[in-house]
Formats: sequence, C-alpha cells, structure tokens
Amino acid sequence: MSGGLISKKMKLEHGKMLKLLNDFVSGKKNSYEKLKDMQSRHASAEEQAIMIFYNNKKDFKLLRIILEQHEAMRGYIDEINTNPAVAKKFGDLMKEHIMLEDAKFYPMLDKDLTPTEQKEIFANFLYLFGQRVKAV
Ligand SMILES: [Fe+2]
Ligand SMILES: [Fe+2]
Repeated sequence: MSGGLISKKMKLEHGKMLKLLNDFVSGKKNSYEKLKDMQSRHASAEEQAIMIFYNNKKDFKLLRIILEQHEAMRGYIDEINTNPAVAKKFGDLMKEHIMLEDAKFYPMLDKDLTPTEQKEIFANFLYLFGQRVKAV
C-alpha cells in the first residue's frame, strides 16, 4: 500500500454508506435495516481496528470528536425510522462525520502511519466489518 491509501480506501467505504443514507432518505424499501447494519458495523470496526491503534499516536481531540459522533449516531439510529426529526439529525451528523474523517482524520493517518501499518489496520477493519460485530 503506497502513501495515502488508507484515506482512499476509507473514502470508498464512506461512499457506500452515503449511498445507503440517500436510499433511506428517499424512502427505498428495506433501506433502514441496511443503513443501520452498515453504520453499526462500520463504526465498531473503525473503533476496534483503527482508533484503538491510533490512540497511541497523537491528536486526541480529533479522535474524541469522532468517538462522540459515533456515540451520538448510535443514540439516534433506533429512532430514525419512526421520528423524522431524529432522522434529519442523524443524516446531517452522518454527513458531517464522514466529511471530518475524509478531510482530516484519514489524511492524518496517511501521514502518520507507515505503509505497513496502514495496510494492516485496513485489513483489520475489513475483517471486523465482515464479522457483523454488534455495536455496544
Ligand atoms: Fe466513523
Ligand atoms: Fe468512517
């Protein structure tokens, strides 16, 4: 993996999530279940594969914001199917969150981590994402 790949890979993952959000907002059948499943697994895999690892590095402020946003999204997700106001908050936060990760967090990891570290943590992310890890 050459420099900058972790951010490129995660941008592709985020693109899939934004598509599911869009399906949900436009009322596509079964989109709620898919969005909920994807968001839960994505955030859990990110936390386990990437953030725990990165905790040993630096910029705790950004990391803390990202973790707080994950928690807020976990708090909203069960209600977004029945409460339009919560659905709006969730959608806005999810877009803001993905923008923050794509613009700041992953580019920072591109710079701070070695290509080997980036390759390993992305492989771990994919492994955990595929494990259907439950958000706690
Ligand atoms: Fe995230
Ligand atoms: Fe993410």
